[in-house]
Amino acid sequence: MNEMQKKISEVGVVPVIKLTDPQRDAAPLSDALCAGGVPIAEVTFRAAGADEAIRIMRERHPEMLVGAGTVLTTEQVDRTIAAGGMFIVTPGLDVELVKYCQEKGIVCFPGCTTPTDYHAAYKLGLEVLKFFPAEQSGGLAKIKAMSAPFPMFKVMPTGGVNLKNLAEYSASPIIAACGGSYMCPDKLIQAGAWDEITELCRKSVEIVKEARNK
Ligand code: 3PG
Repeated sequence: MNEMQKKISEVGVVPVIKLTDPQRDAAPLSDALCAGGVPIAEVTFRAAGADEAIRIMRERHPEMLVGAGTVLTTEQVDRTIAAGGMFIVTPGLDVELVKYCQEKGIVCFPGCTTPTDYHAAYKLGLEVLKFFPAEQSGGLAKIKAMSAPFPMFKVMPTGGVNLKNLAEYSASPIIAACGGSYMCPDKLIQAGAWDEITELCRKSVEIVKEARNK
């Protein structure tokens, strides 16, 4: 793991974010995440302007680890890098796209859930994978089963992770960090309920710490 991956793993959670109005929301949202002890954001290309949000967050909080999610194309990788984004998350494993990220020197967390995915990720020399969609693909039981033939990987389960199951995932040494949109739900972003987002982050960090110390 490089320094950034270690830092993400230390915090233990990655907020998955969709911003429809980056000019209005990116700055206060980055403040809210940092205040909650989660200086990390995966800004998804599910909404246009993800790169604009990444740029705003990185300028406001240079210490923040901001990357792009739902990346499907090399053009989105380029836009992320140009905006100062530090990592790429893809829903599936696209070998060409991962190789492109490697050429450009940006960390990629591809979504993997099968032995075939893991094997391809192994050949690409990856160390940390997104496990997506986590709950729907078998959750922690599947992650543990996959770790038997592939003990070299740490994973970031994403998809169906929330405050109720975060402890269970976080307690496993296979887990680098858990991703989830639950920390930044649309409803709270639209309402500008930044304190509530801070609180969700704070609770998440607490749960991760407690689960790891058990
Ligand atoms: C993702 O894009 O990684 C997932 O859709 C996030 O899943 P969640 O909304 O269940 O957290």
